[in-house]
Amino acid sequence: MPNIHFQNLGPEQWKAEVMLVPFCEGEVEPALHPELDKVVPWLAVAPALRDLRGEKDELALVHGHPKLSVPRVLTVGLGPRNALEMDTFREAIAAAVRLCVKKEFSSVLLPEPLLAGLPGGRERLVEEAVCAALLALHRFSALKKKPEQAVKGPEWIALGFTGGNPDYLHAAARRGENAADAVSMARELANMPGNLLPPQAIAERAEQLAGECGFSCTVFNETELEKQGFGALAAVGGGAARPPRLVVLEHAPEGRGQEKPLIFIGKGITFDSGGLCIKSAAGMGEMKSDMSGAAAVLAAVAVAARENAPRRLIGLLACAENMPGGRAMRPGDVVRTVNGDTVEIANTDAEGRLVLCDALSWAQKEWTPVAIIDIATLTGACAVALGRGVAGLFCDDAELAERIRAAGGACGEPYWELPLWKPYAEHLKSEIADIRNMGPREGGAIHAALFLRHFVAGSARWAHLDIAGTDWAEKASALCPKGATGFGTRTLLELARGGVL
Ligand code: BES
Ligand code: ZN
Ligand code: ZN
Repeated sequence: MPNIHFQNLGPEQWKAEVMLVPFCEGEVEPALHPELDKVVPWLAVAPALRDLRGEKDELALVHGHPKLSVPRVLTVGLGPRNALEMDTFREAIAAAVRLCVKKEFSSVLLPEPLLAGLPGGRERLVEEAVCAALLALHRFSALKKKPEQAVKGPEWIALGFTGGNPDYLHAAARRGENAADAVSMARELANMPGNLLPPQAIAERAEQLAGECGFSCTVFNETELEKQGFGALAAVGGGAARPPRLVVLEHAPEGRGQEKPLIFIGKGITFDSGGLCIKSAAGMGEMKSDMSGAAAVLAAVAVAARENAPRRLIGLLACAENMPGGRAMRPGDVVRTVNGDTVEIANTDAEGRLVLCDALSWAQKEWTPVAIIDIATLTGACAVALGRGVAGLFCDDAELAERIRAAGGACGEPYWELPLWKPYAEHLKSEIADIRNMGPREGGAIHAALFLRHFVAGSARWAHLDIAGTDWAEKASALCPKGATGFGTRTLLELARGGVL
């Protein structure tokens, strides 16, 4: 990742191979942007400008003299001002940075005073611009023979300021940089194939990050899990040669070791074959990312700890491989969960809710949380209902739901609320156990959420995020190559950064 630095001494001192200049539609008129005149006075007389409109997706390189401190401008069209959304802004910045990569520019300048005139709020615009610029550069190249040659991006990206005391804007830029780091980390984990990232490897990565970022990490192996009563998690991992793990992360700022923690729980199925209820071959490969929830939790906690976020956080990664081995759980089996309830396994492919129910119960046994948020690639039904652009949010606490929607909305991770429809709880009744792990196909995302809800005490604040549709991109965009998206990571990081819930 390129280094981000600040040029604080005003436009006359700015220096870079190229400067990005955003324009809204109909505003490609240097006279409308007095700041512009100070940095690149030549732009006002550049004939190329006459052909530009500032339309969405319009990118144009305009050259000044090569000896100038900013010899080029890359204009970035944003479309009409009154329709400008943060998503468009992020995509536009990312597309511009991609063009800079193609042109092999070694340095790029983002002029803060020109961003400040756009709708969205000054700090947010800086944070999002930096985050988008960095995400545009991230590629999953860990498995290429020569990873260093995968993308040759700029060596540095600078933010240009007018002077004064832009400390709060520097902080916003650092938040953007950290957010991009977290998302990249989550993508890196979720793109990693099942053979290379079994539960134990997630645990080891967590331990390594704990050392680097300064949080604590405890790993429960299969023997300890059994001792603690994690019958459902153990059953899911039973069919795999590589055993399950529960990874417990904790970030406690100084003096806050005893405060009620905010708890994140991530589904960490390192590969979901479906188990004995095996999936069909088509699309099974995508199930290597069935640990996207755990990846989001790990990345968010790691970066929040590195930033020394102001609140106590616990992250639980419920990790197992769902395989059809000789010790695999069978349809019809009954297992006992951490809270003592028995679950009838109606379908071994509904394994996510099984690993999560043990983690949910355990979280409430160990701590008095301020809130619990679980995140999981839980149901194909959620993807069918909502498509690939928006994730499902289940929460009976209106204030918590709003916090989550606001956090996601601010960083390009939208959620749509689906109901925890009480009458459907009926469908989860079992003849022989306390609950069964599957309801009818219709309303599948709701049934999964209701199953989880069974394990949440009435008094606990809890939300469930179903990211089955959003965690994987079928098509590349400027902000994200094909593959894992890291969806949810920024939402959790936003919540971790925020004040009291
Ligand atoms: N990991 C899948 C859900 C999923 C599907 C995620 C597609 C991403 C893309 C989950 O474990 C699963 O298999 N769910 C079943 C549940 C059913 C058996 C009740 C499903 O959605 O079909
Ligand atoms: Zn499954
Ligand atoms: Zn799954």
